[in-house]
Amino acid sequence: MTNASALPAAAPWIVLKFGGTSVSTPQRWATIRALAASRRAEGARVLLVVSALSGVTDALKALCGLADVGARAAAAADIAARHRDLLRALGLDRLPALDAHLAELAALATAAEHDYAWQAAVQSMGELLSSTLGAAALSAQGLATAWLDARSCLLATPLPNQNERTRRLSASVECNADTALAARLAACGEVLITQGFIARDQAGRTVLLGRGGSDTSAAYFGALLAAARVEIWTDVAGMFSANPRQVPDARLLTRLDYEEAQEIATTGAKVLHPRSLSPLRDPRVPLLIKDTQRPELDGTVIGPEAASDAPSVKAISARKGITLIAMESVGMWQQVGFLADVFALFKQHGLSVDLIGSAETNVTVSLDPSENLLDSDAIAALAADLARVCRVKVIAPCAAVTLVGRGMRAMLHRLSTVLAEFGQVKVHLISQSSNNLNLTFVVDEATVDALLPRLHDLLLRAGALRAGDRALFGPSWQALYGAATAAPPPPWWREPAARARLLAIAAEATPRYVYHLPTLRERARALQALTAVDRWYYAIKANPHPALLAALAAEGFGLECVSPGELAAAERAAPQAARLFTPNFAPRADYAAALAADVPVTLDALHPLLHWGELFRDRELILRLDLGRGLGHHEKVRTGGAGSKFGLPVSDLDLFLRRAEALGARVTGLHAHLGSGILDPRHWAQVCGELASLADRIGTVAFLDVGGGLGVPAAEGEPALDLAALDAALLEVKRAYPHYALWMEPGRYLVAEAGVLLARVTQIKHKEGVAYLGADAGMNSLIRPALYDARHAIVNLTRPDDRADTLYQVVGPICESGDVLGSDRRLPAAAEGDVLLIADAGAYGASMASHYNLRKPAAETVLS
Ligand code: LLP
Repeated sequence: MTNASALPAAAPWIVLKFGGTSVSTPQRWATIRALAASRRAEGARVLLVVSALSGVTDALKALCGLADVGARAAAAADIAARHRDLLRALGLDRLPALDAHLAELAALATAAEHDYAWQAAVQSMGELLSSTLGAAALSAQGLATAWLDARSCLLATPLPNQNERTRRLSASVECNADTALAARLAACGEVLITQGFIARDQAGRTVLLGRGGSDTSAAYFGALLAAARVEIWTDVAGMFSANPRQVPDARLLTRLDYEEAQEIATTGAKVLHPRSLSPLRDPRVPLLIKDTQRPELDGTVIGPEAASDAPSVKAISARKGITLIAMESVGMWQQVGFLADVFALFKQHGLSVDLIGSAETNVTVSLDPSENLLDSDAIAALAADLARVCRVKVIAPCAAVTLVGRGMRAMLHRLSTVLAEFGQVKVHLISQSSNNLNLTFVVDEATVDALLPRLHDLLLRAGALRAGDRALFGPSWQALYGAATAAPPPPWWREPAARARLLAIAAEATPRYVYHLPTLRERARALQALTAVDRWYYAIKANPHPALLAALAAEGFGLECVSPGELAAAERAAPQAARLFTPNFAPRADYAAALAADVPVTLDALHPLLHWGELFRDRELILRLDLGRGLGHHEKVRTGGAGSKFGLPVSDLDLFLRRAEALGARVTGLHAHLGSGILDPRHWAQVCGELASLADRIGTVAFLDVGGGLGVPAAEGEPALDLAALDAALLEVKRAYPHYALWMEPGRYLVAEAGVLLARVTQIKHKEGVAYLGADAGMNSLIRPALYDARHAIVNLTRPDDRADTLYQVVGPICESGDVLGSDRRLPAAAEGDVLLIADAGAYGASMASHYNLRKPAAETVLS
């Protein structure tokens, strides 16, 4: 194959960087060839910057540490063999340039001198070898590729604070666009390959660029050549909104500006070295991160312009190993020079300070291990010196949790639920960066692994991380790289026939709830198929519509009620169905009425037994316990642990049992419901195990009710609750406790997806860069977004085929700023009268509606 015709002198450069795994196999070199050829076909000159084969830099470092000359020679021979193997695998048998470099390595390995200059020379061999192999491999595949010595282009700049070691092994290069260099390289060929990680000093000797050196090299070349762009090809599609290993739901960041990307790289993302952005900032060269294995994925583009003016949290990260130094001085306030004195000590100990918090008598600073060599000796020595000027407290190990995004100060109102989560852990320090790009919380290190996924989830739900905005965010890591799960079937309302029917219903009147009984039955049967559960009750608070109650009763469900009103509704709609009464802080008369109707009653406090004992004499009782923790999609739906009014604390269990025994009452069931919207299938088995071991202590218990709370996915692509895993986990506990029957009482799972809310567009308004789409349904019909930041998918039913290219705040007609049905939704440009569908509105929609503002809530229609 031949290259396309010669390029004009002014043809732009594209710099592509490939890391160690991307250059280690013939298949990967075929990919590099294809990418380089396609950039060349764009009319660009191509500069490839490569790392050493994977593992080779580490092997060279290890070689430098070997004392025995024979061992060093053997290590060099191993490295030579790896390169000769790859040469053969590439179908090439002799390569004099490679032999020359291998001879140089062999000579270095046995040299007598072992200073830093020698270490730099040895470690530079990895890139010299890989680039030499690459030039031959690409040329042999028909893409003429010239080899370029990076040291002839990159000249290290001496910096004032450098010592011999950092001058040789962690050098920096100052880069300005250099047209003479660009012309010289253009004369070498159209496709060039060079080394990452290495440069020369003023005496012409080899120096290294330190950690992340190949990314930095690519950036230096990008700046020198004023390239059209720099592409970093790696093993993941780009930067994510959190570390995907901790948060599989982390979203791909499709567009960032330099400052945001810098902040994310500095606070923990490993995919890009933080040093590789600053060279590109002034010449405004965009940087693209792409996955070598999956080039079709979008990747992250980092450039001079922000993709959107609206503030959003872009990422949350955690850095571990942080040490806090708290310094107390009684007379510190306005004491001239106190800070100068303490910071002089940090300087003297060679420690660089990260975050600072100050008060009248206290200054607390953090030390980050990636910036400092932090060992206990260094800290102890610093603390001893500080103790001469103030009282010192060292707090470690800590972790710094950082939210990154432009305009952080304009987003505080969206962070209330996120901040509430910090109520569960000890926060030692809060710091807000003066560039308004980050907000950092320092907490105990042990808490951070559990905290991070929860915070990410809350950021999504609060709309602080505007994942719905496709201009900023891509799919989740789970969706891109997670184990492939079968795509869920499309919702019932996506069928063209259903859509036509819904539009006809909307034409009669809006707002309107529409319930689809076939979907309800399907969910009911899926639950009835679980073999571990002996009895199902439907928590009718989710939706007490009589048609739904009758349909579920026909599927074998009992009805769980929490008020006399619900008991009556259940009796009316499905007189044959078993009922349960599970109230909370209800008046005495409610219990009396339920007992009179022979409905099993659940108690969750001592008060009824202590004060209305006669009511329960000789009765069977269900006891709801608080297992000490809550769970669920939002703080307001967690029904356990400190701060929740539900359940009898286990510490009161013995007292409760003694009191019940004195009345001749027997506890025949134990109950726990920890919250709503739970997607972890192991949750109910854990509750079951805890209840079972308590039941064994009681002796009269026949069944365990492990509550409801079965979640449905809030966002498209979020995996559904795994019912098979739920069944398996429950069966395992039942094998250990076969003597108890198992009951469950879901609400949302049965009805949420069966219901939609139809609304009509009333008005459209543009204000300060925000487009508002008004609907005739408001928070008086569906309060979940306002109350819990709940996310409901919204579609414009009138325009199913239009491109969703307009970002809207979808709002209702109620006089409250919280009257929002959906934030940051990309929808087709809408017009007055369009019909909107708000999905998954069958649970806690109509049942929580009100007449606020004296507006009628949406009426209800049932499709059978
Ligand atoms: N059992 C008990 C004792 C409950 O308190 C509840 C719900 C359930 C069962 C049913 O939970 P489900 O399976 O529906 O999650 N309005 C909130 C949900 C509040 C749930 C209250 N209790 C929402 O819209 O998310």
